[in-house]
Amino acid sequence: MKSPEFLQIHRVDDAVLAHEAAEGLRATRAHVSPKFFYDALGSRLFDAITELPEYYPTRTEAAILSQNGAAIADAVLSATGPAPTMVDLGAGSCAKAARLFGALAPRRYVAVDISVDYLRQALTTLQREHPAMSLVGVGLDFSTRLELPAALIDGPSLVFYPGSSIGNFAHDEALRLLREARTTAAGGALLIGVDLVKPVAVLEAAYDDELGVTAAFNLNLLSHVNRLLGTNFHVRDWRHVAFFDVTASRIEMHLEARRTLTVKWPGGERSFRAGDRIHTENSAKWQPDDFEVLLRQAGFAGVRRWTDAQGWFAVFLATG
Ligand code: AVI
Repeated sequence: MKSPEFLQIHRVDDAVLAHEAAEGLRATRAHVSPKFFYDALGSRLFDAITELPEYYPTRTEAAILSQNGAAIADAVLSATGPAPTMVDLGAGSCAKAARLFGALAPRRYVAVDISVDYLRQALTTLQREHPAMSLVGVGLDFSTRLELPAALIDGPSLVFYPGSSIGNFAHDEALRLLREARTTAAGGALLIGVDLVKPVAVLEAAYDDELGVTAAFNLNLLSHVNRLLGTNFHVRDWRHVAFFDVTASRIEMHLEARRTLTVKWPGGERSFRAGDRIHTENSAKWQPDDFEVLLRQAGFAGVRRWTDAQGWFAVFLATG
């Protein structure tokens, strides 16, 4: 039986993160990056979100992948050739990729996540189930730059980026990541999940659920920033706000001050009036043809897509 390999390419430094949070809080329109959602509790809250009745993306994507599994696998393998290397962006538990192993039979599976420590348990378990597969865990913040050691990619590969996380990037950053994914695929393919435009009530409920799990996920960012930057946010002073901006075609999440207050941290402070907001996340929702244009701008020549019956979510396969 092989053993998984692990490498941490780029470690995110807490001091750099604290500096970034402070810059955002000082900005004219206060903002804090969505990456600050994901401390240990935030990651668990996100997992809980994916189980909410209102949060359709995770289960809709899973249904598309399982219902079209054979056609998708055929299309992937005709681009990559048999037994490809599979690169999984934001792999986490590796569960989504593992469901494709039967159809794709990858020779090597490269799981990429921000910290290699998130991948150790999952890859160790996966190795027992797939003793002959080469498993590699890579710690890399690909939201800044996706570049893997050349030795890991030995021919046309499959880059897998499920979950519609591409929607959390600004347009230019999304384009950059898609270009880098194309380079990583080395003439193979990108399989990517994309959330689509749909009735506003459905979208807004998905980001403001009845149980308040998404509200907790958003508010928990304040506790995380308190630990990293030493701010004195009181979670109870803030409320979760989520709405669909039709013009920008995106869900925006904000934290809104319930009263006038001043937030302090070592070396800075910022006053907020009641109703002032901190912008925490965008989640773009595409028309399918617009996402296809983006893929072509990124250099892909071939684009196929699969959607659910309601047209709520799409899985795109981009090649060339
Ligand atoms: C990770 N990402 C795709 C989620 C989304 O839907 O944009 C993050 C999220 N934010 C609130 N709910 C879920």
